[in-house]
Amino acid sequence: MRAGELSPGLEESGWIPNSHTRRDVAVSIQPTRNKVTIHTLFEKMRSGQQITMLTAYDYPLGLVEEKAGIDIILVGDSLGMTVLGYDTTLPVQMDEMVTHAAAVRRAAPTAFLIGDMPYMTYQPSVETAIRQAGRFMAEAGCDCVKLEGGSNVLDVVAGLTKATIPVMGHIGLTPQSMAQLGGFKAQGRSAEAALRLINDAKALEEAGICSLLVEAVPEPVTEIIARRSTVPVVGIGSGGKCHGQCLIIHDMVGFFDRFTPKFVKKYADVNAVILKALEEFKADVAGGAFPAREHRYTIPTAELNLLREMLKEE
Ligand code: KIV
Repeated sequence: MRAGELSPGLEESGWIPNSHTRRDVAVSIQPTRNKVTIHTLFEKMRSGQQITMLTAYDYPLGLVEEKAGIDIILVGDSLGMTVLGYDTTLPVQMDEMVTHAAAVRRAAPTAFLIGDMPYMTYQPSVETAIRQAGRFMAEAGCDCVKLEGGSNVLDVVAGLTKATIPVMGHIGLTPQSMAQLGGFKAQGRSAEAALRLINDAKALEEAGICSLLVEAVPEPVTEIIARRSTVPVVGIGSGGKCHGQCLIIHDMVGFFDRFTPKFVKKYADVNAVILKALEEFKADVAGGAFPAREHRYTIPTAELNLLREMLKEE
């Protein structure tokens, strides 16, 4: 395949390269699969194949997730905690989100990329939401945006959908409402609360969401939501009876250890690997083992001799 050409199948899938994925703009990432679109996700739901979804916040993580064939990459506002070191997601700004989302898109041209609407970018009005969500689509090359809430955000979901912006809903534990929820804890654990979630899911679907994320909800409740849903339902900490699974990348590879929710399976201990490397580097530098011969540049002897002559002349 020549540079600039699409891999077989991409053209038929209707995928059009944009400024985030064009070969002359992006570092040349050769896509190895068809573009994941909303149709791919619906097809997976219909055929009973589980959808995979992970967060990513930068180019290196985007690269490995694209390589691993993850279906959905969410540039979550969790970056406020995992990457920027805030205690909550509330301080995250739209400019930061757009910068990070564009970096992930450059790394992951075929993943279904979702931009997470930060706090107060959609709550004030439908118009504000459209302007802000439009940035994810136009500036970062996202396929969709995600926003938190149920019956309180129906007008926003409808407005964005009307403005051609696909929306993933997010119910259950919604970190932007932490002050109202009173902490990071499971939701929908009483019949009344579960019914509210089930009704919210249906109302969001009727307002136009193309998919739904359900966070920290008991499996039997999520199962009811998924069974009644006509759009893919992805769970995070919500059991295995939905159409796909999501995790925060820093949690599942052990790159963020301030706290780890009960529902996280830790697949690696990246922090330990990095720490070991740093300790070895420190010891090597102290003991003179680094840089070794192979890490050093050479200069031809004749040039070095000439330099010495020149220095004598000074
Ligand atoms: O911001 C985020 O990462 C999220 C998680 C629930 C996936 O919304």
